[in-house]
Amino acid sequence: MTKLQDGVPRMVSRVIPVDPFDLVIFGGTGDLARRKILPGLYRRFLAGQMPAEARIVGAARTELDDAGYRKMVAGAIEEFGGLKAPSATKLKSFLERVSYVAIDARGETGWAELQEIMKGTGRVEAYYFSVSPALFGDLAERLQQWGMADQDARIVVEKPFGKDLASARTLNATLARYFNEDQIYRIDHYLGKETVQNLMAVRFGNMLFEPLWNAQYVDHIQITVAETVGVGGRGEYYDKSGAMRDMVQNHLMQLLCLIAMEPPARFDPDAVRDEKLKVIRALDPVLPHHAIRGQYEAQKGHEDTHPSYREAVGDPRSKTESFIALKTQISNWRWSGTPFYLRTGKRMSARSSEITVVFKETPHSIFAEDAGRHRNVLSIRLQPNEGITLGVTIKEPGPGGMRLIDVPLDMTFSEALGEDAEQVDAYERLIMDVIRGNQTLFMRGDEVEAAWAWTDPIIQGWEARGEVPKPYDSGSDGTTDANELMRRDGREWRKVSP
Ligand code: BG6
Repeated sequence: MTKLQDGVPRMVSRVIPVDPFDLVIFGGTGDLARRKILPGLYRRFLAGQMPAEARIVGAARTELDDAGYRKMVAGAIEEFGGLKAPSATKLKSFLERVSYVAIDARGETGWAELQEIMKGTGRVEAYYFSVSPALFGDLAERLQQWGMADQDARIVVEKPFGKDLASARTLNATLARYFNEDQIYRIDHYLGKETVQNLMAVRFGNMLFEPLWNAQYVDHIQITVAETVGVGGRGEYYDKSGAMRDMVQNHLMQLLCLIAMEPPARFDPDAVRDEKLKVIRALDPVLPHHAIRGQYEAQKGHEDTHPSYREAVGDPRSKTESFIALKTQISNWRWSGTPFYLRTGKRMSARSSEITVVFKETPHSIFAEDAGRHRNVLSIRLQPNEGITLGVTIKEPGPGGMRLIDVPLDMTFSEALGEDAEQVDAYERLIMDVIRGNQTLFMRGDEVEAAWAWTDPIIQGWEARGEVPKPYDSGSDGTTDANELMRRDGREWRKVSP
């Protein structure tokens, strides 16, 4: 909710408490639980969104009692909660809702105890699978065997959702044996980001853009998700995955869908997801020379702390990409002829996620003095410094005739809405959506399969040709080939800026 202050809209948070719930976190001692899920739940508790009766049950293999788990949770909140003024009383009250069950996904240990906790509570039951995908099927089966896969139950499934179309299909089929589609919440945390949802607000809440949002007026669209981090301690997972599976098949694909989809008739889960699915199905196959791969080198002068990709994953011959740039097209009435360029990578020059819509030049210039090529550029910044910039062409001030310059109309959301605008982390929002039973920001099974159906041939092509990604310097913006991809088309990437 916003109110006006000095004529400027200021955010006033509006928190609607959710129904009482029991949330079981499988993998409750893991990295994601500690970094995101538990601190996120605590922030929702502080915001007053969590009802007094809510219960959180950590479940993992580690032998721990409730007290030991609460200690771990408190530590995670302190380390990752990002709280300005921690309150011991509030933390204590939150921890009273937390308990722990030592459980074996493939054995019998702990299931009777969990069943006892979850028995007939009549509340929303959510089971978060924050574990290796290899265990998703086992957990679903166990939940059913122990009578916990009832109609009210919801499961939350983390990515990666399969590693190709075949495995995603198998996974969908396995889960479908125990749960209906409306009980399965496949997380793509990008969909929980405030600014990603803003893409829909900008497009479908304004009259201004939509009439121009098509191949007639748009020259091309760029999507960049640049990271400064390397693969860190995730080398084992990442080296089997690469940027294509880790980022493009899910996060970038979702951004592409939101930017390109037709307006859904309603903002409801299936209406939105139907439109996204149509985009994915209309994507052209990517030509081999339109998919550029790179692998980062060690950072010069910091080789010890910032090793090369191959050193980080411990394989001197790894052919996995940490960077990808590609060009694709959407074959439908709206977009036929408009290229979409996607780019993502690790160890790039800045952390910056941005979608840029570059409009066409005016059909005819009436200003004889002006030799420039002017284009309106709408840039939607997802992170950091969320905001929107619209480049407009105006007259260069002063005498000398009608020379034109491009200036930005700049709106940084924190300035426009106030520094204290509530920042809800993607995971917080998504977990509360699970409890509310709202699947709009979760991927449907057919969506995930369609995304794999598009990415599989690209990956298979690299494998069949034995292609090795080109090296790029840590701290750069990827391979020179990626720039060539644009230059060949007479275009260039937006600068990656923090
Ligand atoms: C994850 C990927 O899904 O998203 C990571 O597995 C990546 O490799 C991360 O670093 C990026 O998320 P964010 O929210 O930091 O942009």
